[in-house]
Amino acid sequence: MMQIGILGSGLMGGKLGTVLARAGHDVVFSYARNKEKLTRLAREAGAKARAGTPAEAARDADAILLSVHWSRFDDVLDQAGNLAGKTILTCSLPMNEDNTALVVGNTSSGAEELAKKVPKAKIVSAFNTIPSEVIPGVFAARRKKSRPSLVYCGDDSPGKKIAAQLISDVGFDPVDAGPLRIARYLEPMALLMGQLAYEGKEGPELAYRFERF
Ligand SMILES: NC(=O)c1ccc[n+]([C@@H]2O[C@H](COP(=O)([O-])OP(=O)(O)OC[C@H]3O[C@@H](n4cnc5c(N)ncnc54)[C@H](OP(=O)(O)O)[C@@H]3O)[C@@H](O)[C@H]2O)c1
Repeated sequence: MMQIGILGSGLMGGKLGTVLARAGHDVVFSYARNKEKLTRLAREAGAKARAGTPAEAARDADAILLSVHWSRFDDVLDQAGNLAGKTILTCSLPMNEDNTALVVGNTSSGAEELAKKVPKAKIVSAFNTIPSEVIPGVFAARRKKSRPSLVYCGDDSPGKKIAAQLISDVGFDPVDAGPLRIARYLEPMALLMGQLAYEGKEGPELAYRFERF
């Protein structure tokens, strides 16, 4: 079991933190606009979860989940403090203010830009290709033989091992897509998933099935 620090406790951070706490990890929820929300999330996630500041979430974390809007990166990283040596899973996409376009692409990715901001951390890109709505259902079905695949990428082997474990604990079959630069392909793919989930007619489940395919 690991200690997980959640930096950004919204749709993704809230759901992933909740299922990881229910899977038995110690989870600290941090970074929301009010402390009451973090406390409520922790209460609902069960005895293994608590609310804290970004610095508290990061301090003893074996893995950090970064799940904030691109525009909040610098603020949350400042508040988290020294992240040298930490494994950071990022599901955050480098989106513009109204979430209509990637602001990094082709020759780099949000994950690679993050690695430049925290050069001594182990960055893994994961969980950004799924709509947050499917997470509880995947967790509920995690003991079934056939699990949906979830791709991740990164440059650090121990960091990727941690990521694969957590992906598996959420209920997915982890698929190693290669080095961190592959996030250049994963991030646009994540936009396609979002398009199918939220603009298409069939909702988030379609994106989930599509990823498995
Ligand atoms: N949602 C998805 O299905 C999905 C799928 C793939 C990738 N992603 C990516 O994952 C990342 C997170 O997405 P999300 O949907 O989870 O976003 P979200 O629900 O808006 O969560 C962001 C978190 O940041 C907090 N926050 C924002 N501004 C803040 C401020 N000034 N001070 C303190 N906290 C602040 C929010 O607080 P409040 O809770 O108080 O609002 C919230 O907890 C994004 O980069 C997105 O592109 C999301």
